Amino acid sequence: MNSNPITVRFLDLNSQFESVRPEIMDAIDRVLVSGQFVGGQWVEQFEEQFARFVGSRYAIGVGSGTAALELALKAAGIVVGDEVIVPANSFFATAEAVSNVGARPVFADVDFGTFHLNTTSVERLITPRTRAIIPVHLYGRAMQLAELQELADRHGLTIIEDAAQAHGTECDGVRVGGSGRLTCFSFYPGKNLGAYGDAGLITCSDPVQAERLRLLRDHGSPAKYVHVLVGTNSRLDSLQAAVLSVKLRYLRDWNARRVEHAKAYAARLRKSCIHVPEIPSGRGHNFHLFVVRVRNRDALLQQLQANGIESRIHYPQPLHLTPAYQDLGYSKPGSLPVSEALATEILSLPMYPELKDKQIEQVSDTVLQFLARADAQEMVTAT
Ligand SMILES: Cc1ncc(COP(=O)(O)O)c(C=O)c1O
Repeated sequence: MNSNPITVRFLDLNSQFESVRPEIMDAIDRVLVSGQFVGGQWVEQFEEQFARFVGSRYAIGVGSGTAALELALKAAGIVVGDEVIVPANSFFATAEAVSNVGARPVFADVDFGTFHLNTTSVERLITPRTRAIIPVHLYGRAMQLAELQELADRHGLTIIEDAAQAHGTECDGVRVGGSGRLTCFSFYPGKNLGAYGDAGLITCSDPVQAERLRLLRDHGSPAKYVHVLVGTNSRLDSLQAAVLSVKLRYLRDWNARRVEHAKAYAARLRKSCIHVPEIPSGRGHNFHLFVVRVRNRDALLQQLQANGIESRIHYPQPLHLTPAYQDLGYSKPGSLPVSEALATEILSLPMYPELKDKQIEQVSDTVLQFLARADAQEMVTAT
C-alpha cells in the first residue's frame, strides 16, 4: 500500500524542542562554559530536583534506564543464579537487565485491562530461587503495588519498580519514585521527560542502597583511584542533567496535556468496538503511550499509514518468545496467553503534548472509518 506524506507523526520531539529552545541553549551554554562534563553541580542539581519532584529521599543519576535497572538489581544483592520475575509485555530491557547481572528472568503474564503484571501469575512462578519482582508502570499508568508488595513480603522478595515510562505519574497520592523502593527511570529522548541522548536515574529511601548505587555507577570509587567494589562507568553526564533540569519544569504541564489528548481520543473512540484505555482519576496515568486494542490491528496500522498517520506497537513480541530468550524454554506459544494475545492486538496512536486537536480528530476519524468498513466489522472486537 502506498503511503501518503506523514501528516501526524507518532512523536514530534522537534516541536517540543522549539518550545523550550532558549532555555535549553542557555543551559547547554552554561555547562560548556563551566567545563564540567561529568558529575558535579549539574548532575547534583538535577538529582535534587528530581528527588524533590517525586518525593524521594535519594536520586542517583545513571547512564540509561537499562543501567538504572542493572545497578538497582546489584544494589538489591541480586546475583548469578537468582530468579527475578518480570512481565512478558514490556520493553526488552526489563528482562535484559536481569540477565546482565547473571540472574534469570522469569516471565509472568499481565492483565488485559491495565497491561500490568498479574499477581496471581507472579505467585505461581515463585520458587526457592526467586529473589525479586520487577513490576513495570507500563505506558505511564501507575501500577497499584499493595497486593504485589504483600506477596513479596510473604516470600521475602524485593520489588524493584521499572518506572522508565512513568515520570510524574501518581499512585495513591504518591508520585512513582516516591515509594521508597528502588525505582528506575529512563530519560531516553522519547520519554515524557526525555534527555538529548541516553540518561537514567534510580530513586530509593535506603541510605545504604543509595551509597552503593553511587559507587556502582562510578567504578566503585568513593575517591579518585580508590576502588572499594567492582562497579562500572554509568554516570549521568552533565549536559543531559542540565537539559533535564530545564525540562523537568514543564513535565507537569506536558503530562496534563497528554491526559487531555487521551480524553479527546477516548471521547471519540469509546463508542466504537475498539478497546480504549481507561483514564484513571487524578494523575494515575501520564499517557506516555495511548494504546488501543483491536483484533484486526495490522490492517488498522496500514490504514493509518496510508492516511499519513504514524502508529507503533509496544511491543510486537512478548519477551518470553523473543529469539534472545529461546534458551529459557518458553519457545512454544500459549504459556502466557494474555501477553501473547495483546501482542497481536495493541496499537499505540500518536501521543505527545504538542499534538493538535485537529490531528487527534484526524487520527480518530481514520480509525472510525476503518472500523465502519463492513469487512473489518467482524474482525475488530478485541479479546
Ligand atoms: C519499560 C522500560 N524499561 C526499561 C527501558 C530502558 O531504558 P533506556 O532505553 O533508557 O535504557 C525502557 C526504555 O526504553 C522502557 O520503556
